Amino acid sequence: MTDYSELARALDERIAAATDLAALEAIRVEALGKSGSISELLKSLGRMSPDERREQGPLINGLRDGVAAHIARRKAALEAAELDAKLAAEQVDLSLPPPPARRGRVHPTMQVLDEMIAVFADLGFSLAEGPDIEDDFHNFTALNFPPKHPAREMHDTFWLPENERGERKLLRTHTSPVQIRTMQRLNEKLPGWIANGPPQNNGQPPIRVIVPGRTYRSDSDATHTPMFHQMEGLVIDRAIHMGHLKWTLDQFIARYFETPLVETRFRPHHFPFTEPSAEMDVKCERSGAEIKIGQGNDWLEIVGCGMVHPNVLRNCGLDPDVWQGFAFGFGIDRLGMLKYGVPDLRDMFSSDVRWLEHYGFSAFQAPNGSTGLS
Ligand code: DAH
Repeated sequence: MTDYSELARALDERIAAATDLAALEAIRVEALGKSGSISELLKSLGRMSPDERREQGPLINGLRDGVAAHIARRKAALEAAELDAKLAAEQVDLSLPPPPARRGRVHPTMQVLDEMIAVFADLGFSLAEGPDIEDDFHNFTALNFPPKHPAREMHDTFWLPENERGERKLLRTHTSPVQIRTMQRLNEKLPGWIANGPPQNNGQPPIRVIVPGRTYRSDSDATHTPMFHQMEGLVIDRAIHMGHLKWTLDQFIARYFETPLVETRFRPHHFPFTEPSAEMDVKCERSGAEIKIGQGNDWLEIVGCGMVHPNVLRNCGLDPDVWQGFAFGFGIDRLGMLKYGVPDLRDMFSSDVRWLEHYGFSAFQAPNGSTGLS
């Protein structure tokens, strides 16, 4: 009978004498590693006769378990000693100033978006959304763009490859398709209203929404980027007229630019989805690169707008003899450039952190300089 006690004693001695984790690991590999002394003994079991194996098996396995347990105990003791030594040697100097925290900045477009939403929410508008990937019907046809009309080309559309149903989707060129989606949803509710009378709806008109979102056109210069942000507005009710549109936009301009009511003017324009259509200008003063809203004798175009075209109402299943409405479309980034003096639109999306440090906003700063705590 082979006696393993000599080997066990030798290993025990070495384990107990190991003074650091690296030395202990070397012993473990020597004994229990792939070709360690105990691993070789375990392998030799396979070459023994059954009787021999019955006798030697428990002895070798016992040896292995005993050595492994001893190594684990020694390891725990060495780790604890190492930590104690570290704690004794290292001290935290609480008098040191903390390293400066890196603060993120709010992108001007998001700041402007929040400000715009705050103003329109105050005027009773709610938010609507639609998809960035649109179809031709919602982006053009339902908005009264005639087939092959040059206005479609003017939008420099990004078309997607044809899908398996033979349709070509597109990246929406404006937020106006959400007008269609919103009116279609209203139309779904109408049969119930006709049957049961109009909803009380807290005295709110059927539709009063703003639609902020990303829009896309194949265009790039100091005032155009392939992706930009628009905010659509849509009001639908009975007996809506241009006076409502003008009042709403005047209120918005004064509140957004934080000025008293500013002189504005409507210039006739053409959009397929509104009739009449207009661009609204505000009084401003240009001195060099700077533009001051509400002063001086210049005019600055600020928003496209008009009364919703009867064809658009019909395309959404609404009777133009019952329902009227107005719509408008702002460039959100452009309003940010005007209010916060950003000279080149392309910089807005260049993802340069230094630019954001300069033009960005603190996340804790409420619009209009208030603390947001009142
Ligand atoms: N969709 C227009 C554009 O992208 C902007 C616009 C003009 C929207 C007039 C409107 C509107 O709702 O009434 O150029």
